[in-house]
Amino acid sequence: MSAAGITITPITPAIGAEISGVDLGAPLDEATFTGIHNALTEHQVLFFRDQDISVEAHKALGVRFGELVAHPNDPGLEGHPEVMIIHADENSKRVAGEAWHSDVSCSEEPPMGSILRMFTVPPHGGDTLFSSMYAAYDALSEQMKSYLGGLSALHDGGPYYRSVNAMLGRDDRGRTYPATEHPVIRTHPVSGRKALYVNSLFTQRILGIPRGESDAMLDFLFAHVQNPQFQCRFQWEQHSIAFWDNRCTQHYAVWDYFPEVRSGYRVTVKGDRPRA
Ligand code: SIN
Repeated sequence: MSAAGITITPITPAIGAEISGVDLGAPLDEATFTGIHNALTEHQVLFFRDQDISVEAHKALGVRFGELVAHPNDPGLEGHPEVMIIHADENSKRVAGEAWHSDVSCSEEPPMGSILRMFTVPPHGGDTLFSSMYAAYDALSEQMKSYLGGLSALHDGGPYYRSVNAMLGRDDRGRTYPATEHPVIRTHPVSGRKALYVNSLFTQRILGIPRGESDAMLDFLFAHVQNPQFQCRFQWEQHSIAFWDNRCTQHYAVWDYFPEVRSGYRVTVKGDRPRA
């Protein structure tokens, strides 16, 4: 139990904690905000149960942690462009996030966090997996840490977002998408810990090394982040909320429930420019 009266139950040694004793539908007092912020810093992704909160309260929760940002390829909920709709049903051709990634890492200032509330869940399945990029970094050899520590990589939203648009029949001619360079190893601005920062949705290549070496290194790193030792797995219930730190985690939404329905809303909190 923390000073704010919230209970923090870790999920695995590497990542994740379930938080109880807090109503996210009400404004967070200073002690509760600090308790949640500290728990996020330590556990990287937090899970809350039974949070049947309004869209306004969801947005207000996000704003408590920073400015909200709209998604570069998703129109959002009508009247609330900062609220991304996560939805799959029997007509879906794809689902959001079905690959290991950190949200919108192609942005110059990628999101610090994402807060997802699920209001319709399938009878079974539809879990989300989270992987700690601190654990992924820590598990590398000292030689590999030193090699990757001097490198940057190109993160480009175009290839992924255009493939999504093609699948959904959306015309994106004339649209441009964010693309930028980030360090392969970033230092978290709050914890000061180092985290691996490349992901399979957005990272196109490591810069300043031969193409073949970059491809081989990215293949290795994309496989490395999938180590179960770095992970936790969240089973959603109706009105569960997950709040993850995009600066030090990746996640993967498992689409094993077709043709069942799974729906939720996500808000995304602005972050800062990653530094090595
Ligand atoms: C995402 O934000 O990448 C989707 C996560 C999920 O649906 O579990």
